[in-house]
Amino acid sequence: MRMINYKENPEHKTAIIEINRPKQLNALNNEVITELSNKLNIIEKNSTIRSVIITGVGDKAFVAGADIKEFQNFTKERAIELSKSGKIKLFNKISHFPKPVLSAINGYALGGGLELALSTHIRVSSSSAKLGLPECSLGLIPGYSGTQKLPQVIGVNLAMEMILTSKIINAEEAYRIGLVNHVVAQKDLLDKCLKICKLFHGASPESLSSAIKSINSCYLHNGNDIESTEFGALFETDNFKEGVNAFMQKRKPNFN
Ligand code: CAA
Repeated sequence: MRMINYKENPEHKTAIIEINRPKQLNALNNEVITELSNKLNIIEKNSTIRSVIITGVGDKAFVAGADIKEFQNFTKERAIELSKSGKIKLFNKISHFPKPVLSAINGYALGGGLELALSTHIRVSSSSAKLGLPECSLGLIPGYSGTQKLPQVIGVNLAMEMILTSKIINAEEAYRIGLVNHVVAQKDLLDKCLKICKLFHGASPESLSSAIKSINSCYLHNGNDIESTEFGALFETDNFKEGVNAFMQKRKPNFN
């Protein structure tokens, strides 16, 4: 089974990518990240495509996080590598993509899922979506740029609270704090994104690319290496093992 579905909308000059692991709530494993990354490389060179929409298959999840089952037994070194290579292959690639990338958040956007949405340039959420960075409740921290990008988008104080309390918020709250640009009914999600993509036709592709580069440059300082190192170090703690075991056994963790 392909991990992503791909189609093009010629009228809007838009590529639509759907993450296709609905049974695992579209959790990001290595295959999904690699397929997404490869597809973005192709889109980048295709001049008929002016923008990209990323969404998830189904109406339950955009992406429920990095795949916990895949990384649960990683060593510190492999975890640091997971975090760093994920950023290079996907998360930072999207942030710096020379064409606008939108996320159509069609359900849970948790952990790596919210980090994926945070990497896109514009976030449109369905009214039923739930968003959060609950990694601390697994004995971890966000490892795909969430500690860097969430404060950039909603401010340090709200980001601190969201990350430290593992709080999951609804779409209305996400809109109120500026985490998402728009909230629409689930059935209107793609149409709303396509309408935004059509607005890009009024600008030159070069100006959009330069605008993205320039806007991103206001965040040139970044703590991404610190985040990856801290993320990896947590893999050596008993509490991380307890957090993951509790998730697998569908119970609350008992942290020391
Ligand atoms: N990784 C792997 N599998 C996942 C997953 C994830 N992040 N999220 C959900 N799944 C799987 C579940 O294990 C389950 O699989 P099985 O049927 O094989 O048991 C399936 O998807 C359906 O999930 P649930 O039964 O849990 O569905 P639910 O409706 O009861 O709960 C949920 C939904 C609240 C989103 C819950 O699935 C959940 O809490 N998921 C984990 C969210 C999370 O902690 N995300 C952060 C991951 S860590 C991370 O992202 C690190 C990083 O920054 C790099």
